Amino acid sequence: MEHVISVHDLSVEAIIDVLDRAGSMLATARGEAVDDRLRGKVLGSIFFEPSTRTRLSFETAMNRLGGGVVGFAGTEATSVVKGETLADTIRMVSGYADAIVLRHPREGAAKLATEFSDVPIINAGDGAGQHPTQTLLDLFTIRQEMGRLEGLNISLVGDLRYGRTVHSLAFALSKFGNTINLVSPEGLEMPGEVVEHLEESGQFGKACHTPEEVISSTDILYVTRIQKERFPDPVEYKKVAGKYMIDPDLVSQGPENMIVMHPLPRINEITPEVDTMPQAKYFVQAFNGVPVRMALLSMVIGGA
Ligand code: CP
Repeated sequence: MEHVISVHDLSVEAIIDVLDRAGSMLATARGEAVDDRLRGKVLGSIFFEPSTRTRLSFETAMNRLGGGVVGFAGTEATSVVKGETLADTIRMVSGYADAIVLRHPREGAAKLATEFSDVPIINAGDGAGQHPTQTLLDLFTIRQEMGRLEGLNISLVGDLRYGRTVHSLAFALSKFGNTINLVSPEGLEMPGEVVEHLEESGQFGKACHTPEEVISSTDILYVTRIQKERFPDPVEYKKVAGKYMIDPDLVSQGPENMIVMHPLPRINEITPEVDTMPQAKYFVQAFNGVPVRMALLSMVIGGA
């Protein structure tokens, strides 16, 4: 496996391969078994934007497989503040590491980085673009919880305009044959290219502004936060902040085996009372970042 930039680069076979490998690595991900197949290998972890889950689960994945990590989280202590370009930063790190995980605020940055790197680039989120490794762990969670990846009714709820996880996930789910509903506040609708793709592939369900309109037929309620940092105008953010509140009453209106997912961080769009309901799977989902990223790293770096 080479660069991992977009879900468009991943075939159904490649996705299933990653998920199967991740399933076989669960004990190591939990620290219950030892596997040092990446001993002596180094991951470059360069995060120009804040992250908790993606960065820490990549680092955990590398450590669980016996490898090491170099990098930065925030540019304050790096030569980026002196004006060093992304191209030169990538050239440097590709000399130090066997693969690079990159998060950057600019859409297209990961793709650009591939032009300057001698080692595989893994896109850990590029602006409002894509977040393919989040999608892989989302698919892993869906298969783990629902037993399949096809024939599901999935409602994507929240900021569908700027939320990159839902862009990647919608494209990936459409590879398997599902029905996808789009629930967003006015002005934060899913980009046209995603909607057109869902329509053309016959997988577009319903677009609406309230989750109540789709909850009774939803198998997976996938909630996202409003991406405050991507709003050009704070006034516009204030208009939509707190628009949705997923609470126990709403969750109880879904089918009995419906699950609630969220890429996290959550702000206030899912109330804490939902956390203890059996439908809440977002913390399991966050843990699944470890085995999935272990599988990916073993393929990208280890050549497995
Ligand atoms: N889901 C996700 O990308 O979380 P972080 O921003 O904390 O990495």
